Parts: sequence; C-alpha cells; structure tokens
Amino acid sequence: MKKNKIFVACDSKNIQKVKEIIQKTQNSKLKIGYKFGLEFLNSKNGRKFISKLKNKITFGDYKLADIPNTCVSTIKAVRDLKFNYLTIHISSGLNALKAAKKVSGKTKLIGVTILTSLDNKSLKEIGFNKDLNNIVLEQAKLANKAKLDAIVCSPKEVNIVKKVFKKEIITPGIRFNSNAGDQKRTLTPKQAYKNGSDWLVIGRPITEGNIKNNLRNLINHLK
Ligand code: C5P
Repeated sequence: MKKNKIFVACDSKNIQKVKEIIQKTQNSKLKIGYKFGLEFLNSKNGRKFISKLKNKITFGDYKLADIPNTCVSTIKAVRDLKFNYLTIHISSGLNALKAAKKVSGKTKLIGVTILTSLDNKSLKEIGFNKDLNNIVLEQAKLANKAKLDAIVCSPKEVNIVKKVFKKEIITPGIRFNSNAGDQKRTLTPKQAYKNGSDWLVIGRPITEGNIKNNLRNLINHLK
C-alpha cells in the first residue's frame, strides 16, 4: 500500500530541537519530508545544517513574495541547498512565477495560495473583496499557467484547486481537534487525505510535547 506523505514543519531556531524532530519522526509507516520555514532558514546555523542534511526530502518554505528579479536571484542563491521543494506566493504575480520556474531546475516550485491563517474577514481587512474560495481558484489557475509543480492550500480548498491544477497538492492547516491556534481553515489528517491532498504539512501537532506519541497518534488516526 502507498504510504501517506507528511512534511513535518521544523519550526524552531534551535538545531538540537530540529535534530530531535528529525530523529523521532523516522518511521516505516509514513513517507516523511522536512519543511524548513523562515525561522530556521534565518537562524544562525540553519543554512549550514540543511547543507549537510543527507537522504531527506527537503522543503524550503521561503514563501517568496517579491518582484521577479528578486525571486529569481533568491532561488539561485539557495541552489546549493538542493531543496526538493521551495515555495513562492502566487500573489507575487504571473511574471514572477514564470521567471522563478525558469530557474528552479530540479527543485519543485510550489505556489502558495491564501494562507491558512486567514479567513474572509481578514482578507477584507487587507483589501481583498472577492470571496476566499474564488481567489484560491484564480490563484490555482495562475499556478497552472506558470507550470508550477505543486500548490499549497488549505485542506478545505483541495476540491477547488483540483478543478484547474492537476499536479501535487500540499496542505498545511492540519489539526486533530478544534484547538487550531493561529490557523483558521483546518481539517483533520484523515479529512485532508480524503479531500485529495498529496502531502500534509504538520508542525505543532507533531513537534510540541512528546513527538513519538504524537506520531503514534497520527498513525492510529489514519488507520
Ligand atoms: O504548526 P502548524 O501545523 O500550524 O504548522 C504549519 C506550517 O505550515 C507552518 O510552518 C507554516 O509556516 C506553514 N504554512 C501554513 N499555511 C500556509 C503555508 C504554510 O501554515 N498557507
């Protein structure tokens, strides 16, 4: 049987903590990749640590949101880290997406849609008046046009994205219960896979507390 795929978010600036996360999430039941976000990537020793990591599926969550030239030069600047996946905000615009795709090489370029920490109210506050689902649909079309390799979206919007985007779908916003913290558009792991997510991104529900127990609970939940 095919293994469920999970990116564990290594959100810490502490190398020891990240080592612990990696060590305690090794298992034969799940296919695990490791996501490094802005906190770790900008920490003093984070870059060096990633450069030495061997035989892991890696995801550089840079969430680029910039003009085409800066997106391109940033992707080139981190090429030596050989990430398997790297993110760019789709809101950077079609030209930036196309330019980034041109230089991303073997690294799969992931387009990030509306963050899972936002809801319709927060979108209105930043001046977006369209309904969230419609914006995500438009963004998925743009990702398709720019020939991106994957999309990050809420597990609630997988069905919308799938209408126009046929490649990998990666969903953060995963929670086992209503304790969502700063996330707004969440589903459980089971629901997320049922909706058609290829990969889940899970951070705190795995990395906070007892990592091995959390992973065991996740595996049981998926049975
Ligand atoms: O701890 P939690 O499971 O909420 O972590 C989710 C991870 O996914 C974080 O590293 C966050 O930066 C990232 N992410 C997200 N929503 C997006 C894109 C990325 O939560 N739309």
